[in-house]
Amino acid sequence: MLNQLFYGDNLEVLRNYIADESVDLIYIDPPFNSKRNYNQIYNNIGEEDPAQAQAFTDTWTWNIAAAMGFEEIISNKNQLYTNQSINLILGLEKVLGKESLLAYLVSLTQRISEMYRVLKNSGSFYLHCDPTASHYLKLVLDSIFCSRGGSFLNEIIWHYNTGGVGKKWFARKHDVIFFYSKGKSYQFYPERIKIDRTQEVLRRIRTGNENATRSKGEQKLPEDVFVVQAINSMAKERLGYPTQKSENLLERIILASSNENDIVLDAYAGSGTSLVVAQKLKRYFIGIDDSPISMEIIQKRFENSKIFYNFVSLNV
Ligand SMILES: C[S@@+](CC[C@H](N)C(=O)[O-])C[C@H]1O[C@@H](n2cnc3c(N)ncnc32)[C@H](O)[C@@H]1O
Repeated sequence: MLNQLFYGDNLEVLRNYIADESVDLIYIDPPFNSKRNYNQIYNNIGEEDPAQAQAFTDTWTWNIAAAMGFEEIISNKNQLYTNQSINLILGLEKVLGKESLLAYLVSLTQRISEMYRVLKNSGSFYLHCDPTASHYLKLVLDSIFCSRGGSFLNEIIWHYNTGGVGKKWFARKHDVIFFYSKGKSYQFYPERIKIDRTQEVLRRIRTGNENATRSKGEQKLPEDVFVVQAINSMAKERLGYPTQKSENLLERIILASSNENDIVLDAYAGSGTSLVVAQKLKRYFIGIDDSPISMEIIQKRFENSKIFYNFVSLNV
């Protein structure tokens, strides 16, 4: 097995290059339906520079691709979709109309259904999103996973301190990461990512009084709120790719849900955070992205870390 990097639309890559039940862990961080386009930041002062090349778009319209995706799902010619997914998309059409949000959900339903196909029965799936569309995405995931014996396991809240202050609403300081399994038996090793207890609990433990706390040890098993620093303008690992996630966050997910020599797939690889972390933790990776700027950044990142990989470009 070789590490693999694909440059192209993930739907095409998944369909033509990735075998059924071949992947142990999938982490994806697709565009969030933020209705904006992201520019590559070169100036490193924490602001996007619209004059610079566009890294990727996150604006959706009901176009030919959306109409074809919609038809593909409801006709289910390739038998990829569950009845629940078909009925969900038909129902959402009534609620949302053939507009941008439905285009976004059709695109993700098509792609996540392929990811379900390539995931091993013992595999785990993480979808990183934010509250803009998380309520719809959970419906999509339930329709793909839960109707075939998979389980919804967690809605992880990733809490961070970066971002602005809230004057018209409460400041938004979290992302949502959905965690699903494909089958009933899946790998999960929370003891590898224990977290520190609060000073207050440690103080109570030190009293030695059982009534003060039953907790033991300086650390505890992780909970569904991850408090992990986001990449800020001073962060050493910052590459200037908009929406770049921190390595610490990916380390937690990869350690908790895979073993050495497992295969980790990220079909929206961006700056390649999950790929680099997978390699550091001795897993193999499959990365996919359709942005030329993403490819440039990932390949530089691999070069700096001396990571070997096989490169396939569909955009030639
Ligand atoms: C939110 S970013 C991912 C950031 C990444 N997690 C990181 O740490 O850098 C989403 C990425 O998905 C890519 N993308 C969007 N649609 C895609 C598609 N259909 N096929 C492949 N990549 C896609 C974009 O180019 C972008 O790089």
